[in-house]
Amino acid sequence: MSVELDWENLGFEYRKLPFRYIAYYKDGKWDSGHLTEDGTLHISESSPALHYGQQAFEGLKAYRTKDGSVQLFRPDQNAERLQRTADRLLMPQVPTETFVEACKSVVKANEAYVPPYGSGGTLYLRPLLIGVGDIIGVKPAEEYIFTVFAMPVGNYFKGGLAPTNFVVSEDFDRAAPYGTGAAKVGGNYAASLLPGEKAHGAGFSDVIYLDPATHTKIEEVGSANFFGITKDNEFVTPLSPSILPSITKYSLLQLAEERLGLKPVEGDVPIDDLDRFIEAGACGTAAVISPIGGIFYKDKLHVFYSETEVGPLTKRLYDELVGIQFGDIEAPEGWIVKVD
Ligand code: PLP
Ligand code: COI
Repeated sequence: MSVELDWENLGFEYRKLPFRYIAYYKDGKWDSGHLTEDGTLHISESSPALHYGQQAFEGLKAYRTKDGSVQLFRPDQNAERLQRTADRLLMPQVPTETFVEACKSVVKANEAYVPPYGSGGTLYLRPLLIGVGDIIGVKPAEEYIFTVFAMPVGNYFKGGLAPTNFVVSEDFDRAAPYGTGAAKVGGNYAASLLPGEKAHGAGFSDVIYLDPATHTKIEEVGSANFFGITKDNEFVTPLSPSILPSITKYSLLQLAEERLGLKPVEGDVPIDDLDRFIEAGACGTAAVISPIGGIFYKDKLHVFYSETEVGPLTKRLYDELVGIQFGDIEAPEGWIVKVD
């Protein structure tokens, strides 16, 4: 089957595809899971996911390579992060093999929707783990659903590789110092909706959050991690217990060192010391690498490399990462998982 879509201009929108994977957890164990054409979840009105936010999600992509095959980027890392999130919210872990096989089966079943090589598009996978069942007290569910659905996507931020501006949230935090910031749970994103809408309304791509304890250090973007590159060739990213440990960020720390000869640094990024960076960006599965033109903070826009052009080191990192993801550049061992 072939599908005709405007592959070059997909944006980041939900699109209902023919197949998704679903598995049920009951009586202390997962069933064997299956593909289904039913894109509606049938759950109890009292499900803890709905009332108390006992839910988690992941995001990863399938890439069409030049030879027409399809591959995943580090899906084991998403499986492991979902396991850590599940531990934090007292949900059962999904084994890595189940997770990766579920992702592969959804890609295979919807293969016609994996965008062509060269279009810039990818198939975005959204694994979701939710606590369900008839429970009304504040306690963990006894039954769970794990599902993986997919949709073809393009750029998350409008600019793509063109820089866009971000704004610091001075009034709102997305997570508490030792809350659930490092877990990929919906509550963090619920907290980011209001500041996110305000930022978009003011013409910014997204919000930069500061550390919730002192509001002096950059934490991350509402939908991605932050990085900066210094004049003396350091690739710097914030280290904090309340930011999401981005798989893209850890991949870039490694590539920056091994392939660009930069010094990888995880540490404090004081918001009052942005002058040290000659380039900056947001990184994540959806964001890929989105260059940050400037950061608006305390009524001033701090511009990094340029408001209109991507910086040369950010561009080299982008080419390396995306080249690996689409199979054009050799990947570090274990990063690529072929579908089929
Ligand atoms: N930070 C937040 C808040 C995110 O939602 C995401 C997206 O997954 C990231 C960072 C980037 O993480 P990853 O690179 O694993 O996609
Ligand atoms: C991702 O990059 O996969 C994300 O989850 C970010 C976003 C769409 C919330």
